[in-house]
Amino acid sequence: MNLLVIGGGGREHALAWKLIQSPRILKVFVAPGNAGTAQERGLENIPLTTIPDLIEFALKEHIAFTIVGPEAPLAEGIVDAFRAADLAIFGPTQQAAQLEISKTFAKEFMQRHRIPTAEYASFSDPELAHQYVNDNGAPIVIKANGLAAGKGVVVAPSVDIAHAAIDTLLVDKHLGGAGSEIIIEEFLEGIEISFIVMADGKNVLPLATSQDHKRLYNDDSGPNTGGMGAYSPTPFISPEIHAKIMREVINPVIHGMQQEDLNYTGFLYAGLMLTTDNQVKVLEFNCRMGDPETQPIMLRLKSDLSMLIEHALNGTLDKAETEWDRRTALGVVMAAYGYPEQPRTGDVIHGLPNRLVQQQTENIHVFHSGTAFGGKDGKEIITAGGRVLCVTALGDNTKLAQQHAYQLVNKISFNGSQIRDDIGYQGVRHQQKHKQ
Ligand code: AMP
Ligand code: GLY
Repeated sequence: MNLLVIGGGGREHALAWKLIQSPRILKVFVAPGNAGTAQERGLENIPLTTIPDLIEFALKEHIAFTIVGPEAPLAEGIVDAFRAADLAIFGPTQQAAQLEISKTFAKEFMQRHRIPTAEYASFSDPELAHQYVNDNGAPIVIKANGLAAGKGVVVAPSVDIAHAAIDTLLVDKHLGGAGSEIIIEEFLEGIEISFIVMADGKNVLPLATSQDHKRLYNDDSGPNTGGMGAYSPTPFISPEIHAKIMREVINPVIHGMQQEDLNYTGFLYAGLMLTTDNQVKVLEFNCRMGDPETQPIMLRLKSDLSMLIEHALNGTLDKAETEWDRRTALGVVMAAYGYPEQPRTGDVIHGLPNRLVQQQTENIHVFHSGTAFGGKDGKEIITAGGRVLCVTALGDNTKLAQQHAYQLVNKISFNGSQIRDDIGYQGVRHQQKHKQ
């Protein structure tokens, strides 16, 4: 059968790369894809982005089912539109995706279903917002209500920075409508982890755990980004914490959605803080896989992803099982000059492993994000977005996975590349302390 993956980033490259490994799958179309998906055997890019075009394509090509990578098409209602055309698609409806699209919806939903999260208040009036900051002090967190591609959150260490963030969003309207309402939230301290599951409306299948690195620079400093690297599994989720997350966060979301007649189907990503006082608190929900978490998670997945998704589409996820490579996978993002504010495009990328090497190596894979063909005679691979590549490798522990990934990172180059050199550092420290 033929499948369709919507999106063109590293997450979609990794999903499509995994799907085509199944002997049941003939071809995976990626819309629009990138230079990495263009080069994989069995994948084919299609230059379509609008929902009506994608529906027409899926009908014409008899696509067995479609998987949605990013949040924007979910917010546009792609799942509702495909279902109305009788097409199978894995993702939440527009209503259910409010969990990611609207921070106010997510916060109110969590309150209704007693899901632990930071204390907060929402504002559209700047005066009241400033007053709240004066009353509560710093550190404090300011968030745009709407989708802002990782740019809508300011973790303010001082009240001055908090006041400035309020003015940027509510007075200068820096993010337009996405920031016309804000929430101001209690600052949480602890270890941040990513917990991603698949859901079929009533059953849940947890995927392997992971940890992302959101800040641009080493030691988690600098501005927030979409993610500069990730590894899986993270040693911070013990079986007890795993059970607590399922009990206190994931199951209440799925049951709460059922109660509100919004049956949640699709990937569900909970960004969680494991706080210093041993609590689990939700930072955010995403209605999709994480990027770059997907890249290491897919490198470890041994089960047939297409079968897992089929179970999810049939409402039988309770019968699905996953098998994982016991090793750690670690992905290092190579980002473009100017990312995250104003990424430069068009820089030629050197040193990429050739197509054959990519296909023959099982322990390492370079997943492409913002890449395209260009340069001299249009055959070179050039940067075409903020995050450019995610170099992902397996190793017997986090330290070894880290070494393997950076060995390959060091062979790849493009002008102005931004790379953190400490991806996985918390996992490495934890393992060294516990001699794993
Ligand atoms: P969000 O998009 O809500 O996940 O926020 C982006 C990033 O800001 C998170 O990944 C955290 O690193 C940080 N962050 C968000 N909310 C808080 C909070 N309440 N306390 C501390 N850090 C936060
Ligand atoms: N890596 C964070 C995200 O996908 O939102």
